[in-house]
Amino acid sequence: MESVETMWNSKFSCEGYMYGKVPNTFLKEEIDTLEPPKKILFLGEGEGRNAVYAAVKGHEAVALDVSSVGLKKVEALAKEFDVTIETVHTDLSEWQPMEEQYDVVMSSYMHLMEPLRTEAFHKAMKALKEGGIFVGEFFSQEQLSRTSGGPKNLDLLYSVESLQLIFKAYHIVMLEALEIVLNEGTHHVGEASVIRVIVKK
Ligand SMILES: C[S@@+](CC[C@H](N)C(=O)[O-])C[C@H]1O[C@@H](n2cnc3c(N)ncnc32)[C@H](O)[C@@H]1O
Repeated sequence: MESVETMWNSKFSCEGYMYGKVPNTFLKEEIDTLEPPKKILFLGEGEGRNAVYAAVKGHEAVALDVSSVGLKKVEALAKEFDVTIETVHTDLSEWQPMEEQYDVVMSSYMHLMEPLRTEAFHKAMKALKEGGIFVGEFFSQEQLSRTSGGPKNLDLLYSVESLQLIFKAYHIVMLEALEIVLNEGTHHVGEASVIRVIVKK
């Protein structure tokens, strides 16, 4: 079977940026509330749109992804915007985070199967400093029937209940399912069912 890395390398080998060069709206709103410089880790950052925006705003951005092709595009986008991004090339199943390293961890549309999903988000919380926040936007299970983006596999889509369980040891500041209209590059376009989450350590 094709590995996750091979699959994403092949997707990111396309011309241009699949989800555009503009940050995700929700992550951007949250980045805009942060007083720089914060150390921010972007999990499953793909081609770098969120990390580059954060770096432009004066934050120290770290982009983690399993795709080497995606990370090359992160570096190219960082160069285009004249900023520096640290990249971490790893599969989240192998990632060994250092404890209490980041002020913020952010992630958009990184869809993982269980048990890796729980493991990865727990590691993300471990990597956060005390008082740090995790911010995420993901497709919900209601997205399965839509054509505006996301995996066509229910096991890869998220629910409020599953995220509640994963983050139960922490302070869940916000956890809501909502319908939005996406306009992100060529692959996230149209009405979408998403979940937004903010968790404080
Ligand atoms: C839909 S893309 C989203 C990219 C980016 N967050 C964005 O919104 O533009 C999902 C990303 O998760 C990454 N990913 C998926 N499984 C992963 C894993 N096991 N470890 C690390 N990254 C993973 C993929 O390589 C891909 O870059």
